[in-house]
Amino acid sequence: MLPSPVQPLEHPLFQQHGVRVFIKRDDLIHPIISGNKWRKLKGNLAHAKALKKKGVLTFGGAYSNHIHALAYACQQQGLASIGIIRGEEHYQSNYTLRWAKHWGMTLSFVDRETYRQRYQQGFLDELSKAYPDYIIVPEGGSNSLALSGMAEMMIELSEQQQFDTLMLPVGSGGSIAGLLSNTTKQAANAQSSQRVLGVAVLKNAEYLVNEIKQLMGKETSSSSNTSWQLLTEHHCGGYAKYSVEDANRLADIIEITGVPFEPVYSGKMVLALFKLLEQGYFAKGQTIMLLHTGGLQGIGGQLERNLMPERLTKALQSHLPSAPPAQ
Ligand SMILES: Cc1ncc(COP(=O)(O)O)c(C=O)c1O
Repeated sequence: MLPSPVQPLEHPLFQQHGVRVFIKRDDLIHPIISGNKWRKLKGNLAHAKALKKKGVLTFGGAYSNHIHALAYACQQQGLASIGIIRGEEHYQSNYTLRWAKHWGMTLSFVDRETYRQRYQQGFLDELSKAYPDYIIVPEGGSNSLALSGMAEMMIELSEQQQFDTLMLPVGSGGSIAGLLSNTTKQAANAQSSQRVLGVAVLKNAEYLVNEIKQLMGKETSSSSNTSWQLLTEHHCGGYAKYSVEDANRLADIIEITGVPFEPVYSGKMVLALFKLLEQGYFAKGQTIMLLHTGGLQGIGGQLERNLMPERLTKALQSHLPSAPPAQ
């Protein structure tokens, strides 16, 4: 569904603090390749096709949204896919990887030490030699080919609703780098008084500031007229971690707004919004735009591992992802 809809969010706290809040529902783009996934993958898949490659090789954790979406997108585009997965082979029967296999992805499990080499040129060269017919896409799909899809989202959004602040969750940094890298005139106009707040979903994420600048490229990072900031205090304890209190608060927000915020990415963004409001961070009269980056399949793995407290599970009941295929 493109353009994805922009919806107003209603909550008593917004009125109390004199702000208007909207949400761009990129989670509704597609039931499987939702959120930032299609936006980041399409440039990479087009590249693989232009080079007449057989497929795409990529990296991810055992519950990765990127692995799940890439496996499906490749199958749809007639491309093969290989996933280098951090962890042991038994993960192949989990929610995410069952689907990835179902869509034809070949899974290769590596230990943590090997996985750590995923950005090292020597390791990548070895993989290129072993799989010459595949393009290599980094973890999370965050590379320069992913930027334009996110930049397009910014143009799409500028035609839908004016706003002062855009908030989005940040994992590897590709999405925020992409939407900041928009250099077209139209977007430059729209961005001049706007700021972007990235909410880091992992602990100790300060290093991402440089990664984001690097992804944007020197030229764009110095010419971009949108101010941006990475908030690193809202990770709720670390990647995919959250307290029962966070989960209950998120359940309240889901019930009041009707929007399915999953707890790993968009959930942390919306919890950050509420904390910032309580701290008086936003001036009265501001319009805040949230970007829902999808990732609802991740709930499948959380439920499988009994990680989600009951209240949150109940709040997300009507948005639970479809059952995984038989093994
Ligand atoms: C659902 C979801 N939202 C947000 C992100 C963060 O995006 P990025 O890694 O581009 O910062 C990811 C990870 O790619 C994700 O899976």
